[in-house]
Amino acid sequence: MLRDTQGLEVTTNSPEAVGAINQFADQLLGYGNRPEIILSAVEADPTSVLANTHAAALHLFAENGSAASEAEPYLQAARQQLANANQREKLYFSAIESWAQAEVDRALVYHEQLAEQFPRDLVSVQIGQYHYFNLGQSQGLLQLIEKVLPANRENHYIHGMLAFGLEQCHRLDEAEVAGRRATEMNRQDPWAHHAVAHVMETQGRLDEGIAWMESLADTWENCGTFYTHNWWHVALYYLDREDLQSALRVYDRHVWGRACKEYSQCQIDAIALLLRLELRGVEVGNRWQEISAYLSNRLHEHVLPFLDLQYLYALARSGQDEQATEMLKSLQTYAAQAKPYIRPAWAEVAAPMARGLVAHARGDWSTASAEIQTALPRLQEIGGSHAQRDLFEQVYLDTLLRLEHNAQARVMLEKRARTRNQIPAIQRALATTYQKSGLQDAAEQAARRAEELSRR
Ligand SMILES: [Fe+2]
Repeated sequence: MLRDTQGLEVTTNSPEAVGAINQFADQLLGYGNRPEIILSAVEADPTSVLANTHAAALHLFAENGSAASEAEPYLQAARQQLANANQREKLYFSAIESWAQAEVDRALVYHEQLAEQFPRDLVSVQIGQYHYFNLGQSQGLLQLIEKVLPANRENHYIHGMLAFGLEQCHRLDEAEVAGRRATEMNRQDPWAHHAVAHVMETQGRLDEGIAWMESLADTWENCGTFYTHNWWHVALYYLDREDLQSALRVYDRHVWGRACKEYSQCQIDAIALLLRLELRGVEVGNRWQEISAYLSNRLHEHVLPFLDLQYLYALARSGQDEQATEMLKSLQTYAAQAKPYIRPAWAEVAAPMARGLVAHARGDWSTASAEIQTALPRLQEIGGSHAQRDLFEQVYLDTLLRLEHNAQARVMLEKRARTRNQIPAIQRALATTYQKSGLQDAAEQAARRAEELSRR
């Protein structure tokens, strides 16, 4: 019996396997670009339940249609050795097996048990956090991390995780403190950088956000998807500062330019940024077509609603009409038959949002507005972060402005301006809607504010 760096027992006699298991944990928690290191643990000890189960998790993180079948041989190998495994390994196996069976609600029961009995198991916490995130359950996400915090206070990763959980629960000041603490403990913590970036994004602290992230960007070189995602956040600040050329440069150099082009998270970062660029009036050339070339195998996957919505938009926007129509049809069929715990999210939120997004991509503003309006109040159920989901609110706002539904647009814009009062585009849109509503003084005031903010 050997122990990992967290002091947890691993059922193996192979120090090489434990070494690779330790490296895998670091890769996962540090969002590294070499998580496949876990396969050398399987090679070193093919009988290790933990190594095989981690390898299955690695495949499931691919978030594609073949992930579960690629995970299965590793789960099978682990299953055959399960009688020899310790309690933690058994619980962890059950969690990952549940995930492979798309029973994420059951997986979370096991991750919660692991957190109670083995709070030093941060890989389990990380995967539990991922599930809560995808289900839009911010409180669950934060509570899972708080449960293991006392056992891990010396570990910078837990403070970065805490920071993001707090941010998603709108506890912004505490989130920033925790994220900065993690970064002070270890500068190589892209998740902690990211949590602070979310706070600054939510508060509209654009210059601070750019300075914070760009001062840490050198540490993302060995990241996988978090290289792309952290730069995605930098692009959002540039967009709101109306430095559209810099936002496009970040897209080309650091988002799509450095993306793993087959990977879900890289694809959706690119799609979401491209759409935001277009909403700000940027001419994006053939960039939609460049992305959609990688999406033709996504039509029937339905791994996560948040992913599907963005693939679908890219297909429709790039002119892949037949594929978009086929995917929309497939999504609606899947939604009606989805497992009970996720059916409301798919059928009552993702399906109308999907119809609305396709309509928006095709310029049918009335349908877009009606469908998105249905989905918007419950959008959190489809997962993703607040900042990511804000894209859909922006699309809805775009339809209201195009349809000149000025009263509704004003309400949304005023709410946005209250939380982020330094964004010229919001003030400019407000000026237009005030003017169209005959509110001349308010229009002039908002136009002046937009002008002042643009000159900064
Ligand atoms: Fe983010």
